[in-house]
Amino acid sequence: MSGELKMKVSDANKNQAESLQGILYDLIDLALQTKQAHWNVVGPRFPVLHEMLDTMTAGFHLNADRVAERINALGLWPSGQAGAVSSKSALSPLPEGPQAGEAVVEGLSARISAVADSTRKRAAKIDDVVTEGILLDIVEEMEKQRWMLNVQGM
Ligand SMILES: [Fe+2]
Repeated sequence: MSGELKMKVSDANKNQAESLQGILYDLIDLALQTKQAHWNVVGPRFPVLHEMLDTMTAGFHLNADRVAERINALGLWPSGQAGAVSSKSALSPLPEGPQAGEAVVEGLSARISAVADSTRKRAAKIDDVVTEGILLDIVEEMEKQRWMLNVQGM
């Protein structure tokens, strides 16, 4: 399989794909970290947080899929294997072991903010309304997830 597509891939598409790839690494990492929190959260808010973190994981995976397949649609090939994500994600890992609900909310909120902010910045530099629209949808959803995470248990 040569990987040759029957379409010409412009430099503009390559630039967009490069930007999308950076977001993809971060979104996959965010999904993995949210699942880690689902398994390791402890304390009186466990039932709600455990459930919420699973729903959030699924949402981040869906958004990662949307970004990856936009790379495909632009004529390029997404990278999403563990080794690449590990070395290229901009996020620092969560601490290992059990984490109190408050620490999970704080740690994940900070990471959601980091990915939402970098996605918004990348979207502003992309000169394609379709890709930009996808990225802004993702930012909207991440900011909503951050709010929902923060207000539960207040
Ligand atoms: Fe589970």
